[in-house]
Amino acid sequence: MRIAIIGTGYVGLVSGVCLAKIGHEVICVDKEQSKIDMLNARQLPIYENGLAELLKELADIEKISFSSDLAHALQVCDVVFIAVGTPQDESGKADLSAIFLVASEIALRAKADKLVIVKSTVPPSTCYRVRDCLKSSNSKVNFRVASNPEFLREGNAIADFMAPDLIVLGSEDEASRAILNEIYLPFAKEKLFHTDIITAELIKYSINSFLATKVGFINQMADCCESLGANIKDLSRAIGQDSRVGHKFLNPGPGFGGSCFPKDILALLAVAKEQQISLPIIESVISSNSERCHLMVKKIVMAAGGKIEGKKIAFLGLAFKAETDDVRYSPAIRIIKELTKLGAKITAHDYAAIANAKIELKEFSGIGFGQDEYEALDDADLLVVATEWPNYRNLDLAKVKAAMKGRIIIDLRNLLDEKALENQGFAYYSIGRRSDSLK
Ligand code: UGA
Repeated sequence: MRIAIIGTGYVGLVSGVCLAKIGHEVICVDKEQSKIDMLNARQLPIYENGLAELLKELADIEKISFSSDLAHALQVCDVVFIAVGTPQDESGKADLSAIFLVASEIALRAKADKLVIVKSTVPPSTCYRVRDCLKSSNSKVNFRVASNPEFLREGNAIADFMAPDLIVLGSEDEASRAILNEIYLPFAKEKLFHTDIITAELIKYSINSFLATKVGFINQMADCCESLGANIKDLSRAIGQDSRVGHKFLNPGPGFGGSCFPKDILALLAVAKEQQISLPIIESVISSNSERCHLMVKKIVMAAGGKIEGKKIAFLGLAFKAETDDVRYSPAIRIIKELTKLGAKITAHDYAAIANAKIELKEFSGIGFGQDEYEALDDADLLVVATEWPNYRNLDLAKVKAAMKGRIIIDLRNLLDEKALENQGFAYYSIGRRSDSLK
């Protein structure tokens, strides 16, 4: 099938490449010519493991191409995915202006029937509004719409696309359903979850909000563990063993971040407000997550002996999680900002996110960056681990000792080996263990 994907951001590119991999002919369209030029030169404007190789493989055999010519893409493709951004506006609502701009451009240029599938994360009933926009702008063409939200985790997106738990497909007629089945034909039938459009749109918000709630819950259990003298690692493993709970998203940490959970949970709340429904669970997940960063700062300050001004902190990890260069709503960045306001000096390291972090932190002074972990550690009073890059697990403790001035480690991801560190004479503070309690 020939498929056009509008928007070459994270979702559009991963989906385009993966749809090409499963056998379709894909044209990725973006109005930014510089992005198209980059992609035609086989360069990626985003960071995602394995994507560059796959893109090259599929572009070389012409299964995927990149263009800024929407009219041409619409001429050769009957199916169009919209995968543009829906950022948060000042009130917390999803900003849908890019969606409607694309819809009106499609309407203007389409000459024959189209199925327009919204992949961007949008509030329930947006697809209907897209359909109305398409039809009112061009009554000569028969437009159908469908919802097909994505469940791709940054750093794991190709695997998530290729081996999904489910593929959510919201449509309103048999013809659209048949096309959706054809697009996803290579996947087992049980993976395809057909429903109506509004439900499909709400499923996306529900999953992200539920997972954010799960993370918020385990973080609160970590606080209980610290206070009561229990161990969060065992607690998390045990409750996850109950199949009704499940192991995933039960790692405590500095709070959830990224471009999705914080934005989508707020957007769901905005939808509820519009509907005059109250969602107290969601509200408390938002407030407890925003409180969490202050709690982490307090933990670091207390580990430092109650005063952080003038202290030199080696800060390992800037991305909102491992395997990405994304620093949007990164707890690490928020914590660094607070610590520098308190007068701490930071030398940070990350395996992929330093360039983005420099932009995010440009207005803050007292922040340097290490070429590698050990350079960041040079002369530090304290070490903070904020992102769970697996390599930080393998720090050479002799080198750490030689580089650092102090012997205090605060591990906000429970990544390091407590016993090994204590044997080496470090004071080790992690998340959710009594020995770490800083009360
Ligand atoms: C999330 C969802 O997992 C994807 O299914 C979805 O497609 C995507 O949002 C989206 O809406 O586009 P992502 O933002 O890449 O994916 O990140 P996650 O791996 O879900 O992690 C989100 C946050 O929760 C991170 O800050 C992470 O560190 C935190 N987290 C996650 C924890 O603190 N503990 C955990 O056990 C799991």
